[in-house]
Amino acid sequence: MDKLRVGVVALGTFGEMLLQTYSDHPAVDLVAVCDVDEARLEAAAQEFGVPGHFTDYRDLLAVDALDAVSIVTPDFTHTDIAVEAVNRSKAVLVEKPLATSLEDCDRIGEALKANPVPFMVDFHNRWNGGVPRIREAIEAGEVGAVQMAYHRLSDTIFVPTKMLSWAARSSVCWFLGSHCLDTLRWVLQDEVKRVYAVSQSRVLKGMGIDTPDYYLSVVEFRGGARALIENCWILPNSSPSVVDFKLEVVGEKATLYFDPSPERLLKLTAEKIATVDTYAGLPVHGRMVGFAVESIRHFVECVLTGRQPMVGFEDGREVTRVILAMEQSAREGRPVDL
Ligand SMILES: NC(=O)c1ccc[n+]([C@@H]2O[C@H](COP(=O)([O-])OP(=O)(O)OC[C@H]3O[C@@H](n4cnc5c(N)ncnc54)[C@H](O)[C@@H]3O)[C@@H](O)[C@H]2O)c1
Repeated sequence: MDKLRVGVVALGTFGEMLLQTYSDHPAVDLVAVCDVDEARLEAAAQEFGVPGHFTDYRDLLAVDALDAVSIVTPDFTHTDIAVEAVNRSKAVLVEKPLATSLEDCDRIGEALKANPVPFMVDFHNRWNGGVPRIREAIEAGEVGAVQMAYHRLSDTIFVPTKMLSWAARSSVCWFLGSHCLDTLRWVLQDEVKRVYAVSQSRVLKGMGIDTPDYYLSVVEFRGGARALIENCWILPNSSPSVVDFKLEVVGEKATLYFDPSPERLLKLTAEKIATVDTYAGLPVHGRMVGFAVESIRHFVECVLTGRQPMVGFEDGREVTRVILAMEQSAREGRPVDL
């Protein structure tokens, strides 16, 4: 296969990022797009010159000349689209989280057993500079046994109140915690055995959006490492950046701190100080660059060369399993064993 013929289902904030990345890829033909929002669909199809546009994902997946599909619908709507895509032998790049129940994950797993197409969950922090460096340092024995870790991934309140119309049907745990869990599992090369999480619904609930403001989760790994994961959705909009990311790993022999915020561009105007994202995904000289772009390119390369991508179905399912345990722990006020 020389060129991958790709379709994108859902053209919201992240769908736009996928469209930009696919459209400047020399080995990709964007052949079809889908969104239930017709105005958004027509605007995107026109902007990116995509021949096929559909409001029903089943019509997009019925296009014969389609090798692969990106699923970028809200968190809790990935399953039916993924199952149908796999049944139709399309390679799949599904946004995180894979699904929000184990039953949904297993429906996708059953479809994959019958039809083992290339399948990737977009946990793109595996391409986020410092993350693979930390994993390599651990693998090289420089860190010794990991004792504890700290991972913060939080957003300003803009995200649940203005960016996502469906925030009340998901949570910061699914939207951001899923990334943290994949990152920690991958860096430590270990699986979670026990979680103790607390959450609070106050600020967002008071604004009519019934979803927790934050989750604080202590996560214990089988090999003995313990991690604190902090996911907050109510950082003030005056924060220098919409996203706040920190990763720290403390081992017997070394400690690593990854704070990518200095990589951002500081923009000072009369009204405020803001940072401009210069490393997740942005166009430079007409071509997308950044770690969020690299994971999409990895998917394209894998499908074109017949390899399974680095982040597979089992990774997505395991993250969903741990998040369900976090939710249960926060609800019941006790640690939960996996
Ligand atoms: N990898 C990442 O870091 C990353 C970043 C942001 C979002 N995401 C994920 O991407 C997904 C979408 O997030 P977003 O921020 O783009 O949301 P969004 O609300 O901006 O966009 C969602 C889009 O889906 C469309 N839609 C809803 N149901 C549909 C259906 N059945 N068929 C076709 N279109 C449908 C909506 O009209 C909307 O255009 C979520 O799962 C989110 O967690 C991943």
